[in-house]
Amino acid sequence: MQGRLFILGLGPGDPELMTLKAARILREARHVAFFAKAGRMGHARGIVADLLSPTAEELRFEYPFTTEVALEHPSYAARMGEFYARCAATLATRMDAGQNIALLCEGDAFLYGSAMYLFDRLRDEYTVEIIPGVAGMSGCWSRAQTPIAHGDDVLSVLPGTLDAASLLARLQRCDAAVIMKIGRNLPKIRAVLEQAGLLSRAVYVERGSMEGERIMPLAALADASAPYFAMVLVPGRQHNR
Ligand SMILES: C[S@@+](CC[C@H](N)C(=O)[O-])C[C@H]1O[C@@H](n2cnc3c(N)ncnc32)[C@H](O)[C@@H]1O
Repeated sequence: MQGRLFILGLGPGDPELMTLKAARILREARHVAFFAKAGRMGHARGIVADLLSPTAEELRFEYPFTTEVALEHPSYAARMGEFYARCAATLATRMDAGQNIALLCEGDAFLYGSAMYLFDRLRDEYTVEIIPGVAGMSGCWSRAQTPIAHGDDVLSVLPGTLDAASLLARLQRCDAAVIMKIGRNLPKIRAVLEQAGLLSRAVYVERGSMEGERIMPLAALADASAPYFAMVLVPGRQHNR
């Protein structure tokens, strides 16, 4: 019988923020796949470090780039496409052999998650079950004690990789925002928030709910760049009720 793929959203980092369903599937999993950067454990793999069965087989999908490559770089899409096709083929071979596989994803898998590219390639021929996770942004605004959207506030979720003009235009049209993928985009994001008059409201969250968590007003952050696992929250209009 053909095996199935379980795409597990594991939440923002604290293992206790995982759903009961994800935890059960994980405990039962005999084959576990995850993405990782070269030389790193893999963020999702780190979340489950204490939960994984010691006898589970681990399939590590290592990204082809060791440093961040700009999305618009001509080779980026092609090389990532080949990488995702190879990962999907590996999972397909395993499922053809009857194996069930748990694919680990941090946060929610369908929010800027790599698992979506495998889902797109496998969904027509295989049974795939998606287990939703607490999104990273939800973990971050909870840890930062920052209610994000009230009443008829419009919340925008923006990748910090957007160019400055696009970021500014988007920020000017919303009441509340979450800016993800900070990294080396930090100076640009800070400058745009200042231009939009939002810097004083912006909260910086690094590694929310994980070891090494840092939370502070963005205006107070002296660093010139941020790690990949950082986001900026701009809470909405704080309506009184
Ligand atoms: C490729 S996206 C994956 C998002 C993930 N699927 C989710 O549901 O949050 C990675 C980005 O998510 C954000 N992120 C996710 N979890 C985070 C956390 N616990 N603390 C800070 N940022 C986080 C960061 O902005 C990071 O650059």
